[in-house]
Amino acid sequence: MKNLTRLFKKFKTKWFRSQSPQRRPNKFSPLERLIIFIVCILIAIVSSYQTLVNPEISLSILLNWVTTFCEILVCCAVLILVSKRENPMIDIRQIMLILGFLLFVQTIKIIFHITPLAIIVPPSLIISQGLGTMTALTWVAVATINWPDKISGLNNHLFLITILSSFIVAMLGGRLRNRSQLLQLAIFVPLGSFIGEWVLVGNESIFLGNEETLSIGEIYSNSLLLGILLLITILLIPIFETVFGLLTKARLLELADQEKPLLRRLSIEAPGTFEHTLLICGLAEEATRMIGGDVDLIKTGGLYHDIGKLHAPNWFIENQTGEKNPHEELDDPIKSCEVLQNHVDEGLKIARDHRLPNLIKNFIPEHQGTLKMGYFLSKAKEKKMNISENDFRYKGPIPQSKETAILMLADGCEAALRAMNINATDNEAFQTISGIITSRLKDGQLSQSNLSKGEIFLIKRSFLSVWKRIRHRRIQYPTTKSNTFS
Ligand SMILES: [Fe+2]
Ligand SMILES: [Fe+2]
Repeated sequence: MKNLTRLFKKFKTKWFRSQSPQRRPNKFSPLERLIIFIVCILIAIVSSYQTLVNPEISLSILLNWVTTFCEILVCCAVLILVSKRENPMIDIRQIMLILGFLLFVQTIKIIFHITPLAIIVPPSLIISQGLGTMTALTWVAVATINWPDKISGLNNHLFLITILSSFIVAMLGGRLRNRSQLLQLAIFVPLGSFIGEWVLVGNESIFLGNEETLSIGEIYSNSLLLGILLLITILLIPIFETVFGLLTKARLLELADQEKPLLRRLSIEAPGTFEHTLLICGLAEEATRMIGGDVDLIKTGGLYHDIGKLHAPNWFIENQTGEKNPHEELDDPIKSCEVLQNHVDEGLKIARDHRLPNLIKNFIPEHQGTLKMGYFLSKAKEKKMNISENDFRYKGPIPQSKETAILMLADGCEAALRAMNINATDNEAFQTISGIITSRLKDGQLSQSNLSKGEIFLIKRSFLSVWKRIRHRRIQYPTTKSNTFS
């Protein structure tokens, strides 16, 4: 019985954890909801009106239409829910993109009677690249679920090839890291579909005795059209990224290019901050890989997390090279706190000016959360100033995702690990890391990040392994006259 209760508790915890979103979902305004509802109704009308095109409308035909209409509405609702679940910060533009594609596909198939292969696969590539695999798979399912096969004379095998090709594109699309991999996909998927069509559809009369076969010319044109549309889609992806605010892997990697003017500016005007950024990126990347998070996202988010320090680089300790600390000259803990908070506010402004995607912008306030600026708080207490502790906290919000939480922990541990004695033991380093992470935990900074205890342990271990690598590099090897480095 005890075991059963324990099992139930375990299940309940796992269930609640799986249900808790990584980030508080974006809420739509009533107007946005109305627009979404109207588009869904439009999709349902376009997809179901064919059932009413009948000279004799009977009750059963009417019932059939109502059922199809409701079915499409439910499908649209499921699609929106899945996309919101996968992308809690999804905005109206992105919802309009997936619904717009659905409306486009449903309209095109009725007007042009073309095969589903060429018109379902390309949108699934854009959706998987920008909004994730689950959203793309659901979109493919919804787009194919009500395909009127009688209208375009489809047969089941062609349909199977369409679903398989779209699923492959939806599964791989989100993982492809550069444009050349996308080009490979645009070549191999049409090739695979051509072979599939030739074997299953072109020879149906031979294998299955089915009269409804495609000629070899039709098979060629189907695959060629798919190839051309996929290539056009790849060319258009950067436009979709800008217009609909999509964050694809390729865009993430482009933003992580250290030759980008903003990052070059950071390395020249705030070299200490840039060095700190690279180090915490190393820590955070390793930890994210360990817990199975989005490594590319944290790498790019990490690079931009402290860009706000560009507003006053010499006010931050890592950029001070021996000259007098301006905070000491100012001698006002409250004003010093404002300077520190400004690195978040200015960072957000710079991010907006450089049109950084929202997912990257989130790293700027969330890496500081509502942490206490302990040094200036104790200075104010020393001066016996009449202050509230909350005035000495960053404005937040606290980390809303695993990635921003890891960056906060890496940010906290970096300076401590860098300052550690070269002869410190692994245990001492682990204790330092644990101490910093536990203090963040107790302060409630990780309460909305969805990090589990196991993941926090893995993060500590990965920080330790990065520190060991850094220490290894710092150890000077003894050199002798005979050392030829061979
Ligand atoms: Fe910071
Ligand atoms: Fe930082």
